[in-house]
Amino acid sequence: MTDTAAAMPSFATKIKTLHWAIAVLVLIMLYGGFTLSRETATLHFGTGLVVLVLMVIWLALRGSSPRPAYPPMPRWQEIAAKATHHSLYALVTLQPIFGLLLVTTSKGEPMAYGVIPLKIAQNDTLHEIGEWLHAVNGYLIAALVALHVLGALYHHVVLKDNVLKRMLPFAKG
Ligand code: HEM
Repeated sequence: MTDTAAAMPSFATKIKTLHWAIAVLVLIMLYGGFTLSRETATLHFGTGLVVLVLMVIWLALRGSSPRPAYPPMPRWQEIAAKATHHSLYALVTLQPIFGLLLVTTSKGEPMAYGVIPLKIAQNDTLHEIGEWLHAVNGYLIAALVALHVLGALYHHVVLKDNVLKRMLPFAKG
């Protein structure tokens, strides 16, 4: 943590924008994934690739955007918060890659948004590995998102600190 970060009340606008855009898209992708049909699959593939691009931009910008320091909290809570955040970065970035592994090797002719062909070559072993990773990771992301939202609400409602506010679009923290 730098002096700038300690004095900083709120996240940078570009980080807040990415956070909320990805939050909405991941919720849509989880719902769409668990209820996937022939009609919605092509939207799921295309929007999953948009999530991958946005995650790469977020991770690239993160290093150069100072983060506001955590408010004082017990050590175990700080470790739990960091572990949840780092796991979300990793698993949400990996999820579209697992999706790509499963569709590029599938039997059919998968398309993103009905126009971008995704098939590379059928490979049943890679397809099954991708299917397994994508399913398990989907459940892990759903559990982490729930934990993350509960953590943010605990800070806002019980501890009444600025942890949620500093990520909100118009709040200064
Ligand atoms: C953030 C991005 C994504 C999220 C959160 C997500 C989430 C999910 C979830 C939760 C499922 C249901 C898994 C199950 O119960 O078996 C699913 C299924 C699926 N997803 Fe994704 N997905 C993402 C990106 C992608 C991408 C980029 C592709 C392909 C290009 C893709 C292809 C598929 C396919 C083919 C299925 C059906 C798998 C099966 O039939 O076993 N997903 N997704």
